Formats: sequence, structure tokens, C-alpha cells
Amino acid sequence: MPRYTDASRERVRDAVDFAELVGARTELKPSGPRRLTGLCPFHDERTPSFGIDPVEKLYHCFGCGVGGDLFGFVMATEGVDFGEALELLADRSGVELERTSEDPGEAARRGRRERLLALLERTAAWYVRMLWESEEAAPARAYLAERGLQEESLRTFGVGYAPSAWDKVLVGSRRAGYSEDELLAAGLCLRGRSGGAYDRFRRRITFPLADERGRVVGFGARALGADQEPKYLNSAEGEIFHKRQQLYGLHLARTSAARAGRVVLCEGYTDVIALHQAGIENAIGVMGTAITEEHARTLSRRVAPTLLFCMDADAAGQAAIAKAAVALQRDRQGELLVVVMPAGADPADVVVKEGPDAIRRLLGAAVPYASFEVTRALQGADLGSLSGRERALEQASRVIGGLPEGVLREDLIRLVSDRIAVSPQLVASAAAGASGQTNGAGDARGRGRTTGSSSGALSSGGARTVLDRREQAERAFLALCVALPEEGERQLAKADADTLFSAPRTRKAAGYLRGRLRSPAGELPRDDEELARLVAELVVRAAEMQASAQDIETEALQLELAHLERDIAAGRAAGDGGRVRELAGERQRVLDALRHRLH
Ligand code: UTP
Ligand code: MN
Repeated sequence: MPRYTDASRERVRDAVDFAELVGARTELKPSGPRRLTGLCPFHDERTPSFGIDPVEKLYHCFGCGVGGDLFGFVMATEGVDFGEALELLADRSGVELERTSEDPGEAARRGRRERLLALLERTAAWYVRMLWESEEAAPARAYLAERGLQEESLRTFGVGYAPSAWDKVLVGSRRAGYSEDELLAAGLCLRGRSGGAYDRFRRRITFPLADERGRVVGFGARALGADQEPKYLNSAEGEIFHKRQQLYGLHLARTSAARAGRVVLCEGYTDVIALHQAGIENAIGVMGTAITEEHARTLSRRVAPTLLFCMDADAAGQAAIAKAAVALQRDRQGELLVVVMPAGADPADVVVKEGPDAIRRLLGAAVPYASFEVTRALQGADLGSLSGRERALEQASRVIGGLPEGVLREDLIRLVSDRIAVSPQLVASAAAGASGQTNGAGDARGRGRTTGSSSGALSSGGARTVLDRREQAERAFLALCVALPEEGERQLAKADADTLFSAPRTRKAAGYLRGRLRSPAGELPRDDEELARLVAELVVRAAEMQASAQDIETEALQLELAHLERDIAAGRAAGDGGRVRELAGERQRVLDALRHRLH
């Protein structure tokens, strides 16, 4: 990663509108002098426990414990590292980042990468012009129109046309100063047997594939003629393009998915475009049916908690859902839902033939993944035979066994018992047996359940540790100091942190905050996440406080009292009567002061 100067990083911090940045992911409302509150974008919740301080540009969730500054927010929501978060925010706010010196090898690699990306970008733009302006693209335009895709949506997705000639991209790019080697590395040209290069994409509709920042990294290109193989030709794996990581349309769907808390997963390019056209802007494509580990990782951590499978209603699509679910449930915390598509149709067909409302209805009727699996087990079975019923019971109870107690589990037990004509008790006990098996053998590596559950997400994930009362008081005191920096500095200056704070965490935070109360976010350490989180929490807490100097004084006295009481107990245990008497005197003094304040 290139290094940027601290000064330019601070310019980015100043330039970003944090409320707007966070507001794109969750709706925020004022709640206190300068706090904004909303539903946490990092976990599923119904009542808001997430807050930001728009001035210090810090966020914190009192529910799941996440927190940090604006860079941390982008790292967490966009799944990028610090350097990328900085670049992204600089991009968006129009701040020029200044580099500190960079080693020559690194600079050369970066330079090459940037040239390849620029080459891909200009080629994508050229394909777009070809689609809309060239005579040759008339059949392509006609095909797209017949598929019901409108020019505006096609332009949003940068859909284009690669003409049938062998060398248009090659010649045009060479003239613009790109080398043959660069054209090959960008995946735009191939090398022929005679050694000469030629265009990879010819007589095809081009769908640019972008990275998460929206930069073109490759293409998927659809054949127009029946004589052309394969139907879709993708960019080859190379320096820039990695199919395993690619999720089609993610850069366009991200904000809407984050806001809705759900993302719609479909198979094809045309599905994604048609869904966006129908106003469903949180749709992305997996480019076929295989969901890779990389996809699963991205989807489970960084897109949206709820995932709707909207695959074709064919065997391949159904099998893909089952396979994807295994990969996705390994470490995700959200909910998996399945959209039941009409037989033989894909989402694009539904949008075009039946209209936006039809697809909306289908999405609205999505069923929990477990229901989908149970239904599949029942549908696939021969319920007329004893062995068929046995098998269906076994399959269904494996799914049900993974579910927590609740309505869904009960419903499915009833469904299975109805359909295969056995008592609900039998299904329930089969399910209990099945779950016992998985927990005993299959779960040896602690992977958790193999079947979906949306509850219990909090207790497994970023669960908060329960703080003892003393540490809570220490945090309250520090938050007050942040809320009233002037009085706070006075208090922190005179406090003996080692004795006043019992917990190492709060002691460290106090050390950090001393002298920084007026701009606590400025120097958050990157290498001490715990400290960064705690400071963010204190600032967000403070943003809601209407505190007075007396409050801080009172809180400080409480801390002192707690500390004295602990020492007195220790003195007693050690049998040191003199020390205990001395401490008791001090305690009296503190108690008097407290009583005085309270009246
Ligand atoms: P489909 O064959 O379902 O195509 O493949 P589609 O999107 O419905 O396209 P139309 O309607 O025939 O034009 C689904 C997706 O799988 C990937 C593409 O991303 C495609 O959109 N795919 C398919 C490939 O990458 N290569 C192929 O040869 C076929
Ligand atoms: Mn399809």
C-alpha cells in the first residue's frame, strides 16, 4: 500500500460528511446535542442502538459493540483495508492524497496496474459507443430491446458491443500508446499462433465487470449468433480479473442493499439489469450458478445481513442454492431466504413478461431457506412408497434438527407430518435425533449449525462482554470528560489514572484522552482496535449527554469512593488496622463531599 501523508489524511477526515456517509447505509435521526442514531448496519435489529458523532466522525453500536472512526466505518462496510478506505474517501470528497516516498518497485507495479485499468475503462467506453452508434450493432440493439432492457438501464450498467473485426481494440489502443503486452495482460487481446495479437471479444454484447469501487476489471460478453461458442465469453483470469471474486453489479447495488438490509442474488447479467430496471436496486449476479468461497466471504460479512436467492427455477439453480447455502452459512449471521420462481423462468423473464409488480410480489413471498429445503425434500420424494416416505422424513428432519425452537420449526414439523402422514411427535423426535448426530460428529470443528437460523446471531458474533459495575462507572466518567472537555481535562490532569481506574481498558483510554479531549478522534491508533473502539464508544455516548461540571465532579468522587472501598477491603484482609482506619477517614471525606453535592 502506498503511504500517504498524515496531513492529507486529515484533510480527507475534514472533508467527509460523515452523517451522509453513514446515512447511505442506515437512516439516522438526531438524539441529543450532536448524536445521530439509527438501526445498526452491522447487525440485525429492530430498535436503534447504533449512534454516530457527526463532528468527531466516530460511530458506535451499543448492541453489537462495533465502533471506530470514518476510515474504520468504510473498512467495515466496504470490506477494504485502511489504505483503500482512505483512497475511496479521498476520491469521493475530492481531496488529493499526497504520497510519502514509495519504493521504486512498488511505484512501478502501481503504475502498471493503473494503466491496465485505464485501458479497460476506455475500451468499455468505446464498446458503449459502438453499441449505440454503429451500424453493425443493430442486431445487438434489437436483441436487447426484445429482452425488454431499456437504454437507460443498459447505460447505467455500461453494456456495449464488441464489433466483429479482429483488431479494432488492438489498433485503437496501440494508437493511444498501449503496448501489446498491456492488451494481453488486461485480457482484451489474445495471441494467435503466428504470434500476433487479436481482439478477444468480437461480435458480442459486452457487460463490463467492475470491482467494488466500480472500476472496470473485465468483461462478460454474450454471443449474438448461434454459431458462436461459448454463449458467454468472460475475460480470462489475469493480473486484473479474478472471476472467483466477481459479483456482478455489486458496486451499483451496495448502497441500496445496505439500506434495505438485504441483497438479491441472481444468476445472470440480464437478470440483474432487469431487476434494477424494475426498481430492485439491491440485486447482484453470481455469473452462473457457482458460488465460490470468495463470494460467500464477501456476501456474509460485507453486503447485507439478509440474502435472497433468486435463481432460475431449474435443477441447476436449485442445486446452486443448496450448495451456496452451505458455503454461506459457515460464517454468516443473517438470514437466508429463497425466492420461489415460476418454473422455467428467470427473474429477467418475469420482469419483462409480467412487470415490476410481479417480481416484487415474488420477492416479498420469499421463504426461509429451511422451508425451501424441506419442501424440496418432500417434492423430490415418492410419497406413495414406504421407503420414499422414510427418506423424505430423514431429509426433512435433518433440516429441521438444525433449527432453534420456534414458530418456523413447529410449522415445518407440522408440514412434514401432514405430507407424509405420520404424527408430529415422530417428526419432532426424528429432528431431535438428527440434530444430535450433527452436533456429535459433523460439528467437531465447531462450525456451528448447517441449517439456517437467524436468532442467536448476536450471542455468537460481536457479543459484548458484560462489564462490572465499576468499569461502567469508569466509562461514564470518561464519557462525561469528553462531553465537557474543559472540565474533563482538569479532572484527568489531577487524577491518578492508576488508582482511579480499575480496568486496564479504561486506564488506557484515560491515558489516551488526556490532552486530546477536544479532538479525540484525531489520533486513534490503527494498531489497537480495542482502544479505538472504546474511544469511539465514549465519544458517541458523550454526544448525547447534557452534562455539567458538577456531574463530572460527582462521578470522579464515585470512582474515588469505589477505589477506597477496594483498598479498605484489602487492608482488612491483610489485618492492617492502622491502614484501614486511615482509609476509612478518607472515605468519610469523600462521602461528605458527595453528600454535599447531592444536596
Ligand atoms: P444463463 O445461461 O442463464 O444466461 O447463464 P442468461 O443470463 O439467462 O442470459 P440469456 O438470457 O440467455 O441472455 C447465467 C449466467 O451465467 C454466466 C453468465 O454470467 C450468465 O449471465 N455464464 C453463462 C457464463 O459465464 N458463461 C456461459 O457460457 C454461460
Ligand atoms: Mn438465465
